[in-house]
Formats: sequence, structure tokens, C-alpha cells
Amino acid sequence: MLEPVEEMKKKAGEKAVEYIEDGMTLGLGSGSTVYWTIKKIGNLVQQGMNVKGIPTSLRTQRWAKEFGIPLTNFSDVELLDVTIDGADEFTSQLDLLKGGGGSLVREKMVAEASSKVIIVVDKAKKVETLGKRPVPVEVIPFGWERTAKKIRRIHGIPQLRKISESDIFISDNGNYIFDCEFNSITNPEYLHKQLKSMCGVVETGLFINMADIILIGEEAHVSHIR
Ligand code: A5P
Repeated sequence: MLEPVEEMKKKAGEKAVEYIEDGMTLGLGSGSTVYWTIKKIGNLVQQGMNVKGIPTSLRTQRWAKEFGIPLTNFSDVELLDVTIDGADEFTSQLDLLKGGGGSLVREKMVAEASSKVIIVVDKAKKVETLGKRPVPVEVIPFGWERTAKKIRRIHGIPQLRKISESDIFISDNGNYIFDCEFNSITNPEYLHKQLKSMCGVVETGLFINMADIILIGEEAHVSHIR
């Protein structure tokens, strides 16, 4: 028996496979909601469906292997047919905050290379404006203290992500992540551009104009916005 929120994630995650057709190349997102999608894709592959995927994190890569989904990479693929990924926040304008799991760079690269981006979430992720949670920003380790100062100059409060008191979180790309609080994000696109223009910043968790459909798991059904 799953917790109610897990049940909503499962509903949304599984619904997304309805957009997958035989022969497609898929972007496989990261996180606990998309886990259900990946598991279900594994079932379809076992039943004979022919798809392959590019994973957005090492964890997703492990799941895909476990469920028997063939993997590929950008040396063989120009454009992905569909990417299915999760999000930490979404708005009715389809803007997203991502990177809670630390996979934002690969997630954004894969989303950018996709014809269609489907986001799977539970209903608690809905916000009026992004920024209830801190914005994840991936930075290179060199000079991270200086990058933090630059973020403070635009009124952000960067917190270096850690896995314990003494251990810094390292992304799949070998970088650090700042979780940055901003008072209110009235213009997420502008904030993203400001952060991206800083030398040392690799990518931000603000995904603007990238999602095509958001599937929202609720108690009794899955709703969607597009
Ligand atoms: C990973 O870096 C994230 O962008 C995830 O997609 C996001 O955190 C959603 O994860 P859950 O589905 O586990 O909430």
C-alpha cells in the first residue's frame, strides 16, 4: 500500500507512457515520479516494444538497465521523440523549477533536444509563481565562493548543497550545487539569464518554455495542462 502522495506520483508517471510509440527514442528523466514511468516502459519493452532512451542521471541509468530498457547517447541521436521528466514546482504557464535531485544539467540538455517534453508531477507541486523552494544552480567547484558572492549581489541567498555536515554534494558532472533563495521570482526567465551570465555557473533549475504537457497526479485521476 503506497502513501497517498506516492500513489499520485505513480498515477502521473504511468499515464505518461500513453505518449510513447514503437520505435521512439526517449529522454528518461530523474526522480521518484518518473521512476514509475521507467518501470512501466520496462514492462512494455518486455512485451516487445522497441524503444531506446537517454538517461538524465546515473540513478536513472541504473533503473533503465534494471528494467531492460536499451540505452543510447548523443553520438547516435540528433533529436529525441519524447522526454518524460519530473519537476519540483510547476505553474499554469508550464514554467518549472527542477534540480531537487541534482540532475538539472543533463535534464535540461535532454529536454532541449526533444520534440516533446512531458512533465509528471503530483498535485502538491503546483505554485502560483516559482520560487517557493530554493532555485538549484549548478556551479563548477573552482572559485565557488566567488560565484556565491555574485549570486548574493543579485539578492539570492546561496546555500551549498551538502549530503552531511562535512560532505559536499557532487553532481553527476562533478560539480557543486547551490540552493538559492530569492525573495520572489517575478521574472524567472530574466533571473535564469542573470545567473547563466555568471562565469562559474553551469546551469540553473529554472526551466522556462520547455514543457509541452504537464500530467498531474491527483487522488482519483490524472489531470493535464498544455
Ligand atoms: C531531479 O534533479 C529533479 O529535477 C527531479 O525531476 C525533480 O526533483 C522531481 O523529483 P520527484 O519526482 O522525486 O519529486
